[in-house]
Amino acid sequence: MGEYPVLRRDYSPQQTRKQYRRVAWFYDWWGKLTEQVASDRMLELLAIAPGSHVLEVAVGTGRLFEKIAALIPTGHLEGIDLSPDMLRRARARIEQSGLVTPYRLQEADAYQLPFQDGSFDCLVNAYMLDLLPLEDFPLLLQEFNRVLKPGGKLAIANFSSGEKKINRIWYWLARFAPGLLTNCRPVQLEAALPAAGFELLHHEEISQNTFPSAIALARKVQPD
Ligand SMILES: C[S@@+](CC[C@H](N)C(=O)[O-])C[C@H]1O[C@@H](n2cnc3c(N)ncnc32)[C@H](O)[C@@H]1O
Repeated sequence: MGEYPVLRRDYSPQQTRKQYRRVAWFYDWWGKLTEQVASDRMLELLAIAPGSHVLEVAVGTGRLFEKIAALIPTGHLEGIDLSPDMLRRARARIEQSGLVTPYRLQEADAYQLPFQDGSFDCLVNAYMLDLLPLEDFPLLLQEFNRVLKPGGKLAIANFSSGEKKINRIWYWLARFAPGLLTNCRPVQLEAALPAAGFELLHHEEISQNTFPSAIALARKVQPD
């Protein structure tokens, strides 16, 4: 990120639960205004087949979870999140959607996914790594890799530094008023993908109402 080093963050599940208890009620509005364009583009790029087994890590209020469920009527969808308050909203959303896709939502930590090796065709993760320590990215990506089938696809969206000057206001906000952004900050993860067993297929930067996001699409490398 050139002159803008990635800001330091600590891993604290208690703090995360506390923060998302506070913001759960308006998170959908925040998402609509800043993250939705990138999240939708990420799903478009992922092009999930209707019978796929998909895991979403950090479902939040279920914005993407509901959209993924609609894409895989003959598949199976699993979702996890650390925050019971966000999960409660995700459950209500999917129950009200009338969608028939078999699914399960559970409280769990991305560091230790409660799934067997090679369970999923696709793994989706939006706006979670940007809350977590940069030094943990290799561990987290390895855990994503573990639960994917060989050749399985990974789609990630995050707060990025952006390509335009105007995007930088978000970096400064993350630096000087982290609480306003629930501690998320611009990150880059592409460098950590190969060592975690992924091949980068696509990278894209998107700016919505000046808020910068990066999408990465990757594939789990097949063992030789
Ligand atoms: C910024 S929200 C994004 C929610 C959703 N992915 C979206 O795009 O609307 C971040 C979410 O990550 C969850 N989270 C943070 N750290 C986590 C962890 N270690 N394991 C699982 N979920 C985590 C939070 O509880 C919160 O719901």
